Amino acid sequence: MNPITLLQPPRLVFGSGCASQCPEFFAQRGLRRVFLVSSSPVLPQLDSLAGALRQAGGEVIQSRPVDREPTREMFEQILADAKAAHINAVLGVGGGSPLDVAKLVAALARGTQAVTEIFGINLLRGRELPLVCLPTTAGTGSEVSPNAILLDDADQLKKGVISPQLVPDAAFVDPLLTHSVPAPVTAATGLDALTHCIEAYANKFAHPITDLYALQGIRLISGNLLRAVQNGGDAEARAKLALGSLYGGLCLGPVNTAAVHALAYPLGSRFKIAHGVSNAVLLPNVLRFNFSAAPERYAEVAMALGVERDGTAPAIAESGVKRLAALSRACGVPQRLSDLGVPREAIPEMARAALQVTRLLKNNLRPVTEPDAINIYESTY
Ligand SMILES: NC(=O)c1ccc[n+]([C@@H]2O[C@H](COP(=O)([O-])OP(=O)(O)OC[C@H]3O[C@@H](n4cnc5c(N)ncnc54)[C@H](O)[C@@H]3O)[C@@H](O)[C@H]2O)c1
Ligand SMILES: [Fe+2]
Repeated sequence: MNPITLLQPPRLVFGSGCASQCPEFFAQRGLRRVFLVSSSPVLPQLDSLAGALRQAGGEVIQSRPVDREPTREMFEQILADAKAAHINAVLGVGGGSPLDVAKLVAALARGTQAVTEIFGINLLRGRELPLVCLPTTAGTGSEVSPNAILLDDADQLKKGVISPQLVPDAAFVDPLLTHSVPAPVTAATGLDALTHCIEAYANKFAHPITDLYALQGIRLISGNLLRAVQNGGDAEARAKLALGSLYGGLCLGPVNTAAVHALAYPLGSRFKIAHGVSNAVLLPNVLRFNFSAAPERYAEVAMALGVERDGTAPAIAESGVKRLAALSRACGVPQRLSDLGVPREAIPEMARAALQVTRLLKNNLRPVTEPDAINIYESTY
């Protein structure tokens, strides 16, 4: 069995209402100047949290909001603000966008490294500021992962910083924070979480430990996503999605994602298509491309999606992909690249950009060449 390293925050709290425990974490450690990174639609929900932090003797310094997927330029502005504010802890509350910014601020606010020096794996030397993350989407799993992603405006590529130092000191996963997520964002972020679980289970570095999280995550998300899209106030569906998203996040450090994410990145960087939508649109055809490398594995994925074991492994796997596409359609997510306004002429350039995401493609069960990437984009057009 291949070795595996599990990374997770030393304090991981899950459950409805648990966000209220977060101020105590700062107070107990005497962390008084807390830099809050969030997004505009989330901020109104944070009044009581900020009030409790102040009551415990702390001061909340609010960053400018992270209202879209972060670029390097946005991040550098926020980092400069954080450095000037003499903060001593960072609190990220939001979807993956604010959480990734919060993680990088905590890593670089006191350090000597520039963000451009740390894109890649294990290049970050250390993190001096304590870091707490509360996810409000379900979601990226960023609250437990060692990853942070920025769009580099210089070359229009999405780049990852991967380091165990980015795993927060504490994560409070409170499903109540996700009730206000609008239906299209619920759909996109849920399909992102589902993709994390599927790509972790069908992965060159898959491991029995993460398989447990991945398969259960697939069951939880596929069984509850449509309910949460149709009724955002469905507390049971929201809680199960939050748990499934957390399970996906726990797979990101040890195993990470693969070709779906690699091929999705150029859609985000070139055409600003939301991360979850980019993954959702490519998921069926990338899985079909991969089937031949591990038909049994994909049949297991299909069964976790609710398909009966009936027929050969490739047939079961194909039924699974049909079920995934049907779920995504029912959630209102576009199914074709043409529906997303991507020009067909962009495909060769997108394939070249995707092939640069070697840190994820190395995990894919089947090698992906540039002509393969072009075929996958073409078949999804
Ligand atoms: N670090 C990781 O491990 C990791 C993993 C996957 C993706 N990502 C990155 O995360 C980013 C995407 O994150 P995301 O999909 O969570 O989207 P997001 O953070 O960009 O949020 C999407 C939208 O939903 C809004 N929103 C969030 N929570 C809300 C709430 N509770 N109520 C109302 N509105 C709310 C946001 O303001 C935003 O408009 C991308 O940059 C992606 O690359 C990171
Ligand atoms: Fe993702």
